[in-house]
Amino acid sequence: MIEPSSIAPGGLTLEAPAVRIQNLNYFFGQGDLRKQVLFDINLVLPRGQIVIMTGPSGSGKTTLLTLIGALRTVQNGSLEVLGQEIVGLSKSQLVEVRRNIGFIFQAHNLFDSLTASQNVEMAIELTHDWKEKRQRAVDVLSQVGLGDRVDYKPKALSGGQKQRVAIARALVNQPPLILADEPTAALDKKSGRDVVTLMQKLAKEEDRTILMVTHDNRILDVADRIITLVDGRLESDDNLDQFVVSHDPKALDRRMFII
Ligand SMILES: Nc1ncnc2c1ncn2[C@@H]1O[C@H](COP(=O)(O)OP(=O)(O)OP(=O)(O)O)[C@@H](O)[C@H]1O
Ligand SMILES: [Mg+2]
Repeated sequence: MIEPSSIAPGGLTLEAPAVRIQNLNYFFGQGDLRKQVLFDINLVLPRGQIVIMTGPSGSGKTTLLTLIGALRTVQNGSLEVLGQEIVGLSKSQLVEVRRNIGFIFQAHNLFDSLTASQNVEMAIELTHDWKEKRQRAVDVLSQVGLGDRVDYKPKALSGGQKQRVAIARALVNQPPLILADEPTAALDKKSGRDVVTLMQKLAKEEDRTILMVTHDNRILDVADRIITLVDGRLESDDNLDQFVVSHDPKALDRRMFII
């Protein structure tokens, strides 16, 4: 029996793995143009893990991430997010599931006319008290090292700072699951490192689960686990040591940078 305290808003269960995928296939297109892009995916992401997903361009990484994020409809198989099967949920139930997920994309999608604080405030739910919103936005911006930039607009921020505002926005509702699609792609080495170190800290200190797509092999060391998708299939699932042993760095570089 599940204790009432273990039920998160929206009826999601806190003890279940963050993600459990069974026999998932996915197709784009209709009729003759129907094309399978994901093949029999089976994957469990326990709580608190930081998992990197890598693989060649076009292998299906973004498609899988958006399925897990309930941003597209699962056609086939089973996908549980935080203990809840999302196959067959209504649109409004999917919105509830998405409330528990923080999204960080490569294009940070900040509003240029709003300050850093206002961009974060926009994402805050369940309160209409503007003072409280402002305080929470400032707190989370301080957490990502932008306490002195809260009233700057995006054009006055560097690429790394903008990406940190996007991270602050993804974190402000304290989601247990964070999905990131190439969060460091537009950043220089130092800013990219700062961003992933921050994400690693969150995963460890606050028991968040992070699934991050990246081609950036300079940041693989933050991962507890590295999964590789090739042609729509999960080809490998390793911890970092196994990954380094089983992937020749030169082959890895070639494979990761196929465009
Ligand atoms: N909306 C769409 N309609 C039809 N096909 C699509 C659509 N989006 C993606 N695809 C195809 O699905 C496959 C997987 O695409 P996806 O974007 O998931 O790859 P990816 O691994 O994220 O690649 P990248 O590393 O370049 O971002 C590709 O063959 C792509 O052309
Ligand atoms: Mg992609």
